[in-house]
Amino acid sequence: MAIDLPFREPQWGQDYWVEDNILPNALEVAHRCISNGTWTLGSPWRPEPWPGMRAPHALTPEELRHVEGCVKQRLNVSALRPQTDSEMGISGHNHIQICGGAEGVARPHVDSASICDYAAVLYIHPTPPTPHAGTSFYRLHLSGEEPGGNVCPREYESLRDVPGMPQEMDPTLFEEILEVPYVFNRLVAYKSDLIHSATSYFGWGTELASKRMAVVFFWKVT
Ligand SMILES: [Fe+2]
Repeated sequence: MAIDLPFREPQWGQDYWVEDNILPNALEVAHRCISNGTWTLGSPWRPEPWPGMRAPHALTPEELRHVEGCVKQRLNVSALRPQTDSEMGISGHNHIQICGGAEGVARPHVDSASICDYAAVLYIHPTPPTPHAGTSFYRLHLSGEEPGGNVCPREYESLRDVPGMPQEMDPTLFEEILEVPYVFNRLVAYKSDLIHSATSYFGWGTELASKRMAVVFFWKVT
């Protein structure tokens, strides 16, 4: 059965946007985040859709205002409403997320349209061992078929709900079409109906500071 997903070439400034050196105090934020003492565990330890561990309130209100101001200006969006706890039970907005190389792999997906229109990731590890751990965008490409689409229509909560889509989201169903490399203090913001994922994770020891660190954001346009 053919899977009918639209394709939209990701356009800089419209579908996604990248800003380097976004925080004037990024090193201070990195140290503050890593010294956090209380973490919620995701996969592989608990059945969560997100990997690694995370904690809320990564950025202060002032830092958050700065990031949101940049996103609104660069993506030409008038107002953004952060995802709140009440919408999804527990929100991931403004969480620091830490995930080692053994704890997660690329999982192409879209973020539910009911919780956000835009998402963003701030790479906050000061010395990443590889740049290939940022954010990638994908299109469906089933073996033996023409390349397919990369946008989940709004009427579906997730790719799994699209008729004909395999229920096991095997990463080999997708082809990478754009990679934004992991660079310290870089923010990548994007329309969250585009199929995307962390490109990969790093950090193979037990030390938290060795692992991929990112602050994640989810917004609805109001
Ligand atoms: Fe996502």
